[in-house]
Amino acid sequence: MRYENSAEIFEKAKKVIPGGVNSPVRAFGSVNKSYPIFAKKAKGSKIWCEDDNEYIDYICSWGPMILGHNNERVMAGVREAIEDGSSFGLPTKMEVELAELVIKCYPSIEKIRLTTSGTEATMAAVRLARAYTKKNKILKFEGCYHGHSDSLMVKAGSGLLTDGYQDSNGITQGTIKDTLTLPFGRMDLVKELFEKDDDIACIIMEPVPANMGIIETDAEFLKGVRELCTAKNSVLIFDEVISGFRLALGGAQELFGVTPDLTTLGKIIGGGYPVGAFGGKNELMDMIAPVGDVYHAGTLSGNPVSVRAGYETISELLENKDTLYKELKEKVNYITSNIEKISEKHNVPVCINKQGSLFTIFFTDKDEIKTLDDVIETDTEKYAKYFNVMLDSGVVTPPSKYEAHFVSAAHTKDDMDKTLEIMDKAFEEISKM
Ligand SMILES: Cc1ncc(COP(=O)(O)O)c(C=O)c1O
Repeated sequence: MRYENSAEIFEKAKKVIPGGVNSPVRAFGSVNKSYPIFAKKAKGSKIWCEDDNEYIDYICSWGPMILGHNNERVMAGVREAIEDGSSFGLPTKMEVELAELVIKCYPSIEKIRLTTSGTEATMAAVRLARAYTKKNKILKFEGCYHGHSDSLMVKAGSGLLTDGYQDSNGITQGTIKDTLTLPFGRMDLVKELFEKDDDIACIIMEPVPANMGIIETDAEFLKGVRELCTAKNSVLIFDEVISGFRLALGGAQELFGVTPDLTTLGKIIGGGYPVGAFGGKNELMDMIAPVGDVYHAGTLSGNPVSVRAGYETISELLENKDTLYKELKEKVNYITSNIEKISEKHNVPVCINKQGSLFTIFFTDKDEIKTLDDVIETDTEKYAKYFNVMLDSGVVTPPSKYEAHFVSAAHTKDDMDKTLEIMDKAFEEISKM
């Protein structure tokens, strides 16, 4: 593989962009590579870099590309939308149609507000929960990522962990004090906390954590937090920015049959263009301005091009839901069951966590990886070796052990078989470490 062009662009990038990238994980820092590959174009399951290397892609833009890159239907919609104008500062009919479509897929959502990113969606949802309950604190779980607003940047998962820290600098002590954190899955500790503290406005959680690698959720835990929030007048926010439209059309809440008060969405809802959303019961959503006094706004909220991309993506998912989600799951089962064989063959133990079209390979002797502490202990050097052998042979996997592999509808049997062949090579290399 040639990397000369990417390496050269990175040298220039570092002079004008902090760390040379606009989102830290893209720097490839934790996988012992001194520069990232710079993407040039993508189609289906493939991505090409500035050196014209072709890769099978398991990043999939960190989630939005569930249909694969540049899906024909989405592209056609986007082309049409662009012809009509890029942004108006006025509402558009398509925003209403997207809202109706999302509400059809998420019975817990009666009204929805569009944002420009997942970060804005979670930030607004937390503000709304505080306004509704008149309480101050929030509870989040260690290793769950909810975007980069101040109050959610405590023990905040993949992006920070990749660079070796857990809380962002630059946040006031007051904010940190109001963000309580507990290990994911520990209902006993959640109950204990609520016994001691009646000032908790909300629990915000990824119902299936995907930002410390995938953590497999126990449905009882979700039911437990639901009951507790109801009993204690606290708002339950499911952050489905990754899991929404991915684990099932109706997200983790459909899969596990647990209904949150508020849901945040992103990624797939914009079909690869910038959109986020938060929504829930009328009682809460009608507190948002201009109906109520909880402010949320955005120059590009509900941008027409993004909205059209999201509308086409979700329509495609809705029309094919009976086969599409099953097929995605089968693909992950095919890949992961073969990784288990490869792991045995080379005597390189791994623990694979998966949910729907997401999976993470943890290099560890442990049989179970359930908490952030478990994930931190897994082997970073082996993961880095895995990443580099895969990249050098034409497969781009997450450049961090704290992220998930994303599989799309565009990944073919050939792609998967080629991936597995290269994984065999990677595990052989790892066995020599
Ligand atoms: C679960 C979750 N919530 C929120 C966000 C933030 O979304 P965005 O990057 O669009 O701001 C992310 C981003 O990866 C996420 O995974």
